[in-house]
Amino acid sequence: MNLHTSRPSGRFFAFQWTQLASRMRHARLHVVVLVLVLSACAELPRAREQHAAVASAHALATAAGKTILEGGGNAFDAAIAVAAALAVVEPYSSGLGGGGFFLLHRASDGREIMVDARETAPAGVKASDYFDRDGRPIPAATTRGGTSSAIPGTPAGLTHLANRYGKLPLSVSLAPAIRLAREGFPVDVRYARIAKLRESFLQGGIGTSVFLAQGKAPESGFVLRQAALAETLERLARFGNAGFYEGPVAGALVDAVKRAGGAWTRDDLRAYKVVEREPVRFTYRGASITTAALPSAGGIALAQTLGMLERFEPGAVGSPATDHLVVEALRRAFHDRARFLADPDFVAVPVKELVSRDYARKKSADIDSAHATRSEALGDIDSARVESHHTTHLSVVDTEGNRVAATLTINLLFGSGIVPAGTGVLLNNEMDDFSLRADVPNAFELRGGLANRIEPGKRPLSSMTPTFVEDEKGVLVLGAPGGSRIVSQVLLAILEYVRSSEVDLEALVAMPRYHHQFWPDRVEVEPGSYSREWRAAMAGRGHEIREARRAWGNMQMVFKSKRDGGARAASDPRGDGVAWY
Ligand code: DON
Repeated sequence: MNLHTSRPSGRFFAFQWTQLASRMRHARLHVVVLVLVLSACAELPRAREQHAAVASAHALATAAGKTILEGGGNAFDAAIAVAAALAVVEPYSSGLGGGGFFLLHRASDGREIMVDARETAPAGVKASDYFDRDGRPIPAATTRGGTSSAIPGTPAGLTHLANRYGKLPLSVSLAPAIRLAREGFPVDVRYARIAKLRESFLQGGIGTSVFLAQGKAPESGFVLRQAALAETLERLARFGNAGFYEGPVAGALVDAVKRAGGAWTRDDLRAYKVVEREPVRFTYRGASITTAALPSAGGIALAQTLGMLERFEPGAVGSPATDHLVVEALRRAFHDRARFLADPDFVAVPVKELVSRDYARKKSADIDSAHATRSEALGDIDSARVESHHTTHLSVVDTEGNRVAATLTINLLFGSGIVPAGTGVLLNNEMDDFSLRADVPNAFELRGGLANRIEPGKRPLSSMTPTFVEDEKGVLVLGAPGGSRIVSQVLLAILEYVRSSEVDLEALVAMPRYHHQFWPDRVEVEPGSYSREWRAAMAGRGHEIREARRAWGNMQMVFKSKRDGGARAASDPRGDGVAWY
């Protein structure tokens, strides 16, 4: 192994800091955040050789990961610290009330596994509860209040990581998050903006005033303290799963959800289990890709789209001839998603067949390189065989070569709007990721068939796609939030990574994005991202182009080079994330 160091971490950190600071208007806030971040970074000696890296959506979460890595923890301990810190400093995105997927690579034995900490529907749920007497979907039943929340998985994911894979006790890995919750942290411009956007939701929620300042969205610089959350994190650290899924926390969660119309019981919480699943694995032009398994649809969609694209020699992303093919591949993969994909513990999904080269050949046989296929021509989604804004991503590698890509969520911004009394835990609204009926799209405009219908104890289908890409250049660890648009973000980044002989992480996280998801039948592009000529060329092939109101995603990437063993990291410029290496 080559022992040359990569760029000194201080320089990059400083660069990221300038970017972050430039977005903050509050001079006092600069100083407070700078002191917090630097004190977290200065507590421990800086490693001379940087073979470890962390990328996350918040400077304080990245600093928590760095502290743990430099204090003798491995990538799994660091991932716990980053995830828990994000739960505190980005409460609108993820947290103990949510779920997610942790994709792991253990260097000592090469074990690769996906820890599925996805939320599950409570045992007492009935699909009919979400429709009125005339068969119409009840507005917001899956997005707000007690009926929208599924049993959280993130706490069990963190304890599982610590018990099975970490080196440090959970109390050490959770310590930075506990401190941030108890002592508070000054909210950044992003927090202030999102709280303003959701001000009336937070004012009308249950216990959600904790995220406001005297009933109003706070200005940046406001110090947010979450004493109850600190206590819940401490209980988790001391008692493991029992600290959350049993005892007073469980009691408070069940009471609050029931009062808000939901069907949770203490048994639902006690019964919650993470599942270790074999990741989806495939190759694309010589690169080995390891990615999310069901109940994420993302890994299968990546395998399908890349399998179809391998037949076409695509050029650079950004050239209409290539992008047309990418859109056609996405259209077909999302068609299959809607028809077949769901929690594999409930529905037999022919995964092997769906990700095979043979299937990719058949599925792409009717791709016309000059004309868009109409989505409706692919067939409806209700005839499936059935046998039986928000979210966050973190990427970590350590000096031993362990890796974690984790995407975590409470679904939409500030989830269900319920914080059960005394817990500080904001509950998810993940029930919206189920399909109510083929003609009822969810918040991401995704439609799905019977496979993904609501059933007791079932995990809703997800788009979260934590992924490793390995080739002769090194290993790329990546993922992003963005609901259904996660898949296209990760896909575009992989296409460019594999095509290029040099690795430019900053360029990969910054790539302009487009997206297609079978229905609605249109290509969505980020505002101002693709030229008039590009749009005309795509329209000329029959695509409807729609410019989204906002850019999407917040990709976090780390890369470990095979050439020199060095690690690097980059955070999406669309967010305020900070990368450390
Ligand atoms: O699991 C899923 O696919 C969604 N609940 C993720 C939500 C999300 O990424 C929101 N971010 N913008």
